Amino acid sequence: MKTRMLRDIEVSEVGMGCMAFSHGYGKIPEEQYSIEAIQNAHAHGCTFFDTAEVYSPNLEGIGHNERIVAKALRGVRDSVVIATKLMLREPKVENVLDTVRCHLEGSLDRLQTDYVDLYYLHRLCAVPVEKIAEAMGRLIDEGLIRGWGLSQVDVDVIDRARRVTPLTAVQNIYSMVERDCEAKVIPFCARHNIGFVPFSPIASGLLSGKITPRTEFEKFDDVRNWVPQLSRENIEGNLPIVEMLKGFARKKNASPAQISLAWMLHKYPNVVPIPGSKNKQRIIENLDAADVELTEEEFSALEESLGGLKVYGHRGLGGL
Ligand SMILES: NC(=O)c1ccc[n+]([C@@H]2O[C@H](COP(=O)([O-])OP(=O)(O)OC[C@H]3O[C@@H](n4cnc5c(N)ncnc54)[C@H](OP(=O)(O)O)[C@@H]3O)[C@@H](O)[C@H]2O)c1
Repeated sequence: MKTRMLRDIEVSEVGMGCMAFSHGYGKIPEEQYSIEAIQNAHAHGCTFFDTAEVYSPNLEGIGHNERIVAKALRGVRDSVVIATKLMLREPKVENVLDTVRCHLEGSLDRLQTDYVDLYYLHRLCAVPVEKIAEAMGRLIDEGLIRGWGLSQVDVDVIDRARRVTPLTAVQNIYSMVERDCEAKVIPFCARHNIGFVPFSPIASGLLSGKITPRTEFEKFDDVRNWVPQLSRENIEGNLPIVEMLKGFARKKNASPAQISLAWMLHKYPNVVPIPGSKNKQRIIENLDAADVELTEEEFSALEESLGGLKVYGHRGLGGL
């Protein structure tokens, strides 16, 4: 697969969000299935894998997902980029470096590795971002992480952080129906050589065209029960976007999910999406979006169609 740079870290053009093997989309697969799915993705050319310390069933416990990623990538560690995230929930942090280091050591242990390629702060917390940036700089100097990033942040925070320690990537929500980051965040990242990693790039499944107003989501640990675009009324409201995407997909002999990923790859050279799926076939389908080339004309037609359609539901940077 073609590659892109997140500052100085080279990754496949499409990465893989591993969260759903542990959390967020209902029943999790058998561990062996998840391990094989990750290994298949790697064999298919994916070199960028996204996890987090908090990805465990129902967000209870720590590290379920990191352990799966470790088992899957054990034999190929040097040829992959592993991104994980720390969640600082401590109400009071006396020593920021020690606290961040302690979280990192837990991740290193679970990931069975000596270094993390890309270490994100999962959500802003009580500690000023400058202090986090300083700690991350030290961990880079020590060789424990190769680069660092922030998640769900605006340009003001990114700017304050990068002045202390240059950022490798920002991971925010971004898709055809969550476009806030187009105004400032993505251009700012591009100007400062910061990669932009969209999470939920398929809008939690909406843009695959497989969700209808009658789709029943799961009862346990399924974010689709509260993703705003996926309430029954909003799925109905968003159908024109999905239909437009399906029409495009038919013409390009691609799937709607692939078109939604190819659109953002075409639009920005510093963007590397990390679609999530717990299904082996759909993981490969999403990775193959890197082969779907849009012409300038096709891209402009997509942009124009999108511009004319109202989005129902908005999650934005303030959401979970
Ligand atoms: N930084 C953060 O705060 C944050 C927040 C959320 C997620 N993330 C990261 O971003 C990754 C991706 O986000 P996400 O999983 O929330 O959203 P997503 O990639 O937009 O969508 C995932 C959902 O779409 C479905 N899907 C994916 N590809 C499909 C396809 N080709 N055809 C039909 N359905 C498809 C999946 O169902 P199936 O499983 O049935 O295929 C799943 O229900 C996560 O794995 C995680 O690593 C980060």
